[in-house]
Amino acid sequence: MPTPSNSSTRNCNQMPPILTVEGLTKTFQMHHLGQSLMAFEDLSFTVSPGEFLLLSGPNGVGKSTLLRTLYRSYLPVAGQIRYDSREGVIDLAQAADIDIAHLRRTEIGFVTQFLTARPRVPAEDIVAEPLRLAGHSRDDALKEACHWLKTFGVKQDLWRAYPTTFSGGEQQKVNLARALILPQRLLLLDEPTASLDVGAREALVTRLADLKSQGVAMIGVFHHAADVAHLIDRDIRLKPKELSDVA
Ligand SMILES: Nc1ncnc2c1ncn2[C@@H]1O[C@H](COP(=O)(O)OP(=O)(O)OP(=O)(O)O)[C@@H](O)[C@H]1O
Ligand SMILES: [Mg+2]
Repeated sequence: MPTPSNSSTRNCNQMPPILTVEGLTKTFQMHHLGQSLMAFEDLSFTVSPGEFLLLSGPNGVGKSTLLRTLYRSYLPVAGQIRYDSREGVIDLAQAADIDIAHLRRTEIGFVTQFLTARPRVPAEDIVAEPLRLAGHSRDDALKEACHWLKTFGVKQDLWRAYPTTFSGGEQQKVNLARALILPQRLLLLDEPTASLDVGAREALVTRLADLKSQGVAMIGVFHHAADVAHLIDRDIRLKPKELSDVA
């Protein structure tokens, strides 16, 4: 049985899918318990350019695990994740690490609420980095970085400072600016609004609406789902699974 119950709230997109997930299954081996934990089983769905899928379900149901599996931080135990890249269709479940690294730089973004702050790297350089890696000049990248830091509400006197000492919310804003500065083709979002103030949440929703209108496909878990209600095309609801004995 497929685990999600897909309820269509809007069907505005007739484009062919950019992502086709079929029979996706992920388990975790709990060696210390002698059990395996089924995160999700036989999951199938598609996402088209410009479509926004809300991923919902109770705590521990596997939402973050699904996003991490799509991003290939986790390997699934079964199923396909066919992604229609600029260079052709590739199964993310089977792709070589080097191809995954390339896609993460150029086409597939992952947005969490946590910044991986590096010691002695100023906020503006952290945010500008994706543009620098994409070949933009340092000046252009920094200008754009400052625009997004301002948009997400990071005070100007912090732009040259090191985010390792920032508050949780300030770090989250730097993280969002970095994650969304360069439009990707597929964006995976794991509770990006948790602990953001209202101004930053509004800025984020505006940016996501803009990216959607540019054709970016998005799959996201949202702490404040009402914020993005007007963007949601479909809702994938994951249902709880039981622990099962290791075979
Ligand atoms: N690396 C791991 N090893 C073992 N079990 C894991 C691992 N990652 C997640 N799990 C388990 O998988 C299940 C799903 O976790 P996941 O983080 O995907 O839930 P979630 O739906 O995102 O929950 P929340 O709403 O609390 O964020 C949980 O029971 C969790 O304990
Ligand atoms: Mg989660």
